[in-house]
Parts: sequence; structure tokens; C-alpha cells
Amino acid sequence: MNRVTKPEPNARIVILTGAGISQESGLETFRDPDGIWAKVRIEDVATPEAFLRDPERVHAFYNMRRKRALTLNLEPNAAHKALANLEARWDAEVLVVTQNVDSFHERAGTTNLIHMHGRHAEARCNYCSHVVPWVGDMSVHDVCEGCGRPGGLRPNVVWFGEMPLEMERIQEALAMCDLFVSIGTSGNVYPAAGFVALVRKLGRGHTVELNLEPSTGASLFAESHYGRATEIVPRYVAALLGA
Ligand code: APR
Repeated sequence: MNRVTKPEPNARIVILTGAGISQESGLETFRDPDGIWAKVRIEDVATPEAFLRDPERVHAFYNMRRKRALTLNLEPNAAHKALANLEARWDAEVLVVTQNVDSFHERAGTTNLIHMHGRHAEARCNYCSHVVPWVGDMSVHDVCEGCGRPGGLRPNVVWFGEMPLEMERIQEALAMCDLFVSIGTSGNVYPAAGFVALVRKLGRGHTVELNLEPSTGASLFAESHYGRATEIVPRYVAALLGA
């Protein structure tokens, strides 16, 4: 690994993660050649309009992905665990902001976590906004336990055209951070793709990219390390912790 710039021990760290960090746990990414968007059209399954038009199809897509992510024997990998270890051992705040809707970060032990694109493990009611934990399949016949109406439950994930969650808290953390690390994301989807530019504009944090290959915004990062997440993330975290 190239030289790692070590922040001060009291540095506040924000880490953005994307599908690449979960790839070696057995989940497909979106934009790699064998990724999800090479097989299914975004406008058929991942927009509010798609759900209005054909809720069964959208449910089938998310039921398949939820089953894979939550009920098969897939486990958090060394990269998720390294980030949990960093949070446990770093003196100042470490915030993980993930675009992933799987549960690997929390299962690895990360507690200071924002799921900006929602979670597979939850359903939300379109009528009353009630959110409930969800593990199995979801259908148009399910009844919301908040308002008692059928037909309104949807995956609690952020679709294209919708506003990601907790943006205010994320922007505050980006403005205050001393180190911003982007892991396993191709840099194609905003607002997450714009975080590195925001950190640079606000002029505080050192910026680092850890990815299999240079992302779309690679030139904006001050430091970068390329390779598989299970190799480079533990090495990078060990360097930060001085191990
Ligand atoms: N280790 C590290 N990086 C990897 C690995 C790996 N083992 N495998 C793939 N990658 C990298 C790819 O090179 C790519 O740059 O991870 C990135 C994955 O990019 P995308 O598939 O575009 O996923 P992501 O950036 O998370 O997508 C953002 O798009 O469709 C939406 O809502 C969805 O949250 C998702 C958002």
C-alpha cells in the first residue's frame, strides 16, 4: 500500500461506503459488467413510478435481493469488520454513511451508522409512513400495522428521484470532518458522489478513495489506494491505528 497520511488522533472521520465493500460478502454491485443494472432497468424497479405502475414487479425484485442479503448465509467481510474496529478504537467520532441497504456494517459492529439509501430490513407504509422491521417477502396484500390498510407497504429504500435519508446530519458531519474516506463506490449517484467535492469546498478534511479501480470522481481525492476491499480496507485501518 502507498503511503497513508495519518490524521491527528482527535480527527473526526466520515466514511462513505458503496456496493464494492459488500461484493466480497457475496452481493452484486450495480454498475460493474455483471452488476444489477446490467440485468434490470432502473426505471422498471427502482423508481416511485415503477412501484405505482407495477408494484408486484418491484416487490419481486426487492424480495429476491432481500432474501439474498438477509436470509442466505452471507456474512460481513474483513472490510466491514475493519471499519467497526476503527470506530471502537479511534478516540474521536467515526461516522459510517452507507449507500448500501444490506446490514453488514451493523452486523460487523459499527454503531455510528447512517443508511442514506434505507435498509432491506425495513418496510415503510406509503399511506402513513410507519416503518417496521421486515425480513421475509413483501407483497401488495400486506397490511400496515400502523394504519391497518393493505397495499401501501414498500421496501424502506430510497429510489431514484427520492431524497436520501438524514442529509442534514450527513452534511454537518462532512463540513466538520478532518478525514473523508470513500470506499467501494463508483461515484455515479448523487448526492453521495458529490461528498468529496463538498469536503474540498469546505476546505477541512483530507480526502481518500479506497476502491477496486479509480471511480468517476477519482481525481478529486487527495489520496487513493486501489485493490479489493477485504485487502486494502484492513490495511488502511491498520495504518490509521498505527498497528
Ligand atoms: N472491492 C472494492 N471495490 C469494489 C469491489 C471490491 N471487491 N468490487 C467492486 N468494487 C467497486 C467497483 O469498481 C465500483 O467502482 O465498487 C464500485 C461499485 O459501484 P456501483 O456498482 O455503482 O455501486 P454504488 O456506487 O454503491 O452505487 C450507488 O446506485 O443504484 C444505486 O442505490 C444504488 O446505492 C446504490 C447507488
